[in-house]
Amino acid sequence: MSVSYYEKNRLFKLDTPRSSYLFAVSDENYLLHLYYGARVSDHEIAPSFYRSSYASFSPDATGGTGNISPDVSMMEVSGSGVGDFRLSTVILRYADGTSATDLRYVSHRIYTGRPDAGALPHVRLTENEADTLEITMQDPATGVQFLLYYTVLRELDALVRSIRVVNQSDETVYIEKLHSLCCDFPQNDFDLIHLYGKWAKERSPQRLPVMQGIQSVASTRGASSHYHNPGICLAKKDTAEESGECFGFNLLYSGNFSADTEADGYGGTRVTMGIHPKDFRWRLEKGDSLLSPEAVTVFSGQGLGEMSRIYHRLYLSHIISPYWRERKRPLLLNSWEGCYFHFDSDKLVRLAREGKELGMEMLVMDDGWFGKRDDDTCSLGDWFVNENKLKGGLAELVRRVREEGLAFGIWFEPEMISPDSDLYRAHPDWCVQIKGREKSLARHQCVIDMTRQEVRDEIFRQMKAIMDSCPITYLKWDFNRNLTEPSSLALPPERQGEFFHRFVLGTYELQQRLLDEYPTLLLENCSGGGGRFDGGMLYYSPQIWCSDNTDPIERLSIQFGTSLFYPASSMGAHVSANQRTGYDTKAAVALWGTFGYELDPEKLTDEDKETIKTQVAYYHKTYETIHNGDLYRLIPPWENGATCAWNFAARDKSSALLTVISIRKREFQTLIVRMRGLEEEAVYRCEETGEKYTGAFLMNAGLNLTDRDLNRDGASLLLYFTKQ
Ligand code: GLA
Repeated sequence: MSVSYYEKNRLFKLDTPRSSYLFAVSDENYLLHLYYGARVSDHEIAPSFYRSSYASFSPDATGGTGNISPDVSMMEVSGSGVGDFRLSTVILRYADGTSATDLRYVSHRIYTGRPDAGALPHVRLTENEADTLEITMQDPATGVQFLLYYTVLRELDALVRSIRVVNQSDETVYIEKLHSLCCDFPQNDFDLIHLYGKWAKERSPQRLPVMQGIQSVASTRGASSHYHNPGICLAKKDTAEESGECFGFNLLYSGNFSADTEADGYGGTRVTMGIHPKDFRWRLEKGDSLLSPEAVTVFSGQGLGEMSRIYHRLYLSHIISPYWRERKRPLLLNSWEGCYFHFDSDKLVRLAREGKELGMEMLVMDDGWFGKRDDDTCSLGDWFVNENKLKGGLAELVRRVREEGLAFGIWFEPEMISPDSDLYRAHPDWCVQIKGREKSLARHQCVIDMTRQEVRDEIFRQMKAIMDSCPITYLKWDFNRNLTEPSSLALPPERQGEFFHRFVLGTYELQQRLLDEYPTLLLENCSGGGGRFDGGMLYYSPQIWCSDNTDPIERLSIQFGTSLFYPASSMGAHVSANQRTGYDTKAAVALWGTFGYELDPEKLTDEDKETIKTQVAYYHKTYETIHNGDLYRLIPPWENGATCAWNFAARDKSSALLTVISIRKREFQTLIVRMRGLEEEAVYRCEETGEKYTGAFLMNAGLNLTDRDLNRDGASLLLYFTKQ
């Protein structure tokens, strides 16, 4: 059992293979945090072990014992207005207008497996894979209950946390803030690593010292966004890629979020993470409850690389759908960058035919097939086939594509509605808006009100009619703008503060409904590229289009950043025609992802076609090593500005793929690349050169690549090693 309770000190100890997490119940029934870090065997830690001394301005909220103050103690969960002035985890507001929130321990339960997550995306765990500690807290003044969940993974150094608020009071209450976790540390010499960006430049890592005061990484756009990601890491100053301690925090949620740090004058740091409190106000009737999204914390004592690998394994084994966990993804040809809106059935069939020649397994018909859509100004919401383009209808097109030997995939943008659409004309109240305010358009479109059941039913009905009309095995779900005038005409004033969260729940419900109806469907989420790349979405779609930027050099920082939390098999990556770098480098970078093509094969030269056939064969050969292997980031693209390198190693160390990219030409520069993740004693043969090396040589001495044909702007090198 990875959860222990020691009655003597009323102390809880959560153990993963290489980490421990300890906290205890104080005399005043606060939950005091004691330790999180590398595994320890001790449990005789007195609850006062890490407690800061009582400070003169700190409120004594202990009923006069004067022992501790929540102001300076490490708290397992923080209330508001009752002595802890730092970041709150939960804030409630009551009928009398006040908002103090106090949380005191009442009882706990320990059980195998995990708690019910209701309709929220969650870490999938069986009875044999995890144990859960469930703690009941209560506000003594109001009776409102708080259930703190800690699910401890037996095989991975990860904890899953969430909080449920249960209104056991006698009146309606409003939740004004519900974060999923609070994690206090007795140090503040951390760096904060987070991922920032914008459209076409998502998830670049930034590392900066945790500052005194509050730092917030957040989105209030209705989606997790291109700009920030619901994943942050606290790393010790000396923590590097493969050494040192770090703590990851990753939220399985696709809407507004904040991940906040607060360092205080007593030398501590608090992290809280969850739904963003801005515009959040959830009405909880007597007897009702609300569960927060799940947050996954990971401890690594071996650097950022190990933290990432733990997250990757977690995503592969416990978050993406079990159906796709075991299956190879199809190699797809997407019509977007090759055709944009300009295609008809014959063109798509030709794409399929040519694609088949090159080795493609699926044709994806992107935007432009429905309503009267010839550009981005109309028809979202009219999910019926544009017969002017697809003469003979969709079923006939799919039949012809399948006859060419390819499976068929399709594009939808279910959460959107164009003002110029039949659906809008029939139901103008179905789009997100505030009465009396002008609706802001973005990409000429509005957002449909996903909080409403009848709206979701209609979108589902339309999608189902398409999906049932012919064999469609892949669906790209796009989301091409953020939310403005955030309100539902169907929600009463006292529930408008629920709009953003209800929107996300509506999206989750519709994605789940699709998967229930078509359990083998491969869903790929997308949002103007990677504007909603998060653990919530990955629960439904095992892959997400990583960025609209398909330039391989630009992609390096995007993919390096994304890999901080998310595995290779989740990152939609295609070779496209539109960029200046050669096909070899485009493929070398796209291989670190789902891999596919997004171009018009009719425009390729014979030489390009031969190159692509070779790449497809290489993709099949290296698929297992990349998709189920471990990633080692060797030289990040920002390290010296000239070279970037990474390698994948199969988990059983039987194979490895090294990729080196020359961002720009180096003058007379020695280049030695040391691989990682191999078996020291084993002998590996490089398939490209036939040379043999021991794992120890490749990892310690490294490969001298100075004289390889790499000293050109945008050159690349792929070396595949197999154990002899
Ligand atoms: C978004 C996606 C693209 C493509 C277009 C279609 O920008 O990221 O891949 O599907 O929409 O309009």
